[in-house]
Amino acid sequence: MSNNKLRRSVVVGCGGYLPKNILTNEDLAEQLETSDDWIKARSGIEKRHIAAPGELTSDLAAAAADVSLKSAGMHPKDIDLVIVATSTPDHTFPATATTVQAKVGANNAMAFDIAAVCSGFVYALATADNFIKSGQVNNALVIGAETNSRILDWNDRGTCVLFGDGAGSILLSNESVESLGSDRGILSTHLHSDGRLHDLLYVDGGPSTTGTVGCIRMEGKEVFRHAVVKMSEVVTEALVHNNLLAADIDWFVPHQANKRIIDGTAKKLGINTERVIVTIDKHANTSAASIPLAIWEAVCDKKIEKHDLVLVEALGGGMTWGSGLIRW
Ligand code: UT7
Repeated sequence: MSNNKLRRSVVVGCGGYLPKNILTNEDLAEQLETSDDWIKARSGIEKRHIAAPGELTSDLAAAAADVSLKSAGMHPKDIDLVIVATSTPDHTFPATATTVQAKVGANNAMAFDIAAVCSGFVYALATADNFIKSGQVNNALVIGAETNSRILDWNDRGTCVLFGDGAGSILLSNESVESLGSDRGILSTHLHSDGRLHDLLYVDGGPSTTGTVGCIRMEGKEVFRHAVVKMSEVVTEALVHNNLLAADIDWFVPHQANKRIIDGTAKKLGINTERVIVTIDKHANTSAASIPLAIWEAVCDKKIEKHDLVLVEALGGGMTWGSGLIRW
C-alpha cells in the first residue's frame, strides 16, 4: 500500500513490559525431557518471562502503553485509536483493547483487537497507519501483548520451550508531510495470508469449536520452512516498493521466533547481522509482542534513532505474514 502524500504516521513513542518471573531453560529441563543445550542450539532461546497468576494480557499491554505515552509526553485523552494485537485476550469478548483503553485512560479512543498471531503487530501497524492516513485518527496506540504461557501444553516439549509472555507498544501520530520536511514515518506496509496453511500452527480450542481455550499446536519444521521463504519475500517486496536495497536499511527488526530463522532470512537477503535486532535469547517467542519489545529494547540501547530506516517483518499462524518500513 503506498502512502497518502498529505498525512504520514510518525512514531512518537514506544514502550515495553516484561513480567517479573523468569523461567530459564534449566528450569524447564527439571520439568520435562529437554536441555539447555537443545533449546539454545535449535532456537537461540535462553530464558523467557512468565506472567504471574492474575496478571492479564491487558495488564501487560497497559504497562507497555503507559511507557509509550510517557516517552512521547502525550496525555491518554489525546489518543483516538487503541489496537491490541493478541492471540491471548483476557476474555473471548470484549476486545482486550477496550480493557486497555480503560486502564490507561484513553477514554476518547476507539479500541479493538487484531488476531493475526505472530504477525499481529505488523497487521496492527498497517491498520493504524491507514486510519491515520485516511484522516480518521490522529494519535494511535499500537500494542502487541501476549500471555502465551496460558495456552501452552506444558507436556509438549516441541512447543512449550519456545514461547514467553510480554507486551510492547508504539505510539503513532499524524504529521503532515509538509511540516515534517523529511520522509519520516511509515513508508509502506505489506500484508499477506494463506488460510490453506492453517493446520501448521494453531490452537486446538476456541468458543465455536470445542468451547475450551486450547493449546498451541505446531508443525515446527514446516513453519520454519515457510518462515524463511515468506519473510524473505515480504522484505524484498518492501525494498522493491520503496526502491531500496538491503544495504540501505539501518535496522531489521524481525519477529523473534527462532534465531536460526532470523539468521537464515538475513543470509538469504544479504543483511549484515550487526543490523539485525535480536532479543529471542532473553524473551523467547512472545508472538505479537516480539517486534515492539525488540524495538523498545533497541531504542533504549540507542541503536534505533531518529531518521533511521527500520524494517519490521513477521510470520505467524493463519498463516499470516507481513512487513513494514518506517523512517524513525
Ligand atoms: O512464531 C510463529 C512461527 N514459529 C516458528 O517460526 C517456529 C518454527 N520452527 C522452529 O523454530 C523449529 O522447527 C523448532 C525449534 C520448533 C524445532 O527445531 P527442529 O530442528 O525443527 O527440530 P525437530 O522438531 O525436527 O525435532 C528434532 C528432534 C526430535 O527428535 P527425533 O525425532 O529426531 O528423535 C524431537 O523430538 O528434537 C526433539 N525435540 C526436542 N528435544 C529436546 C523436540 N523438542 C525438543 C526439546 N528438547 N524441547
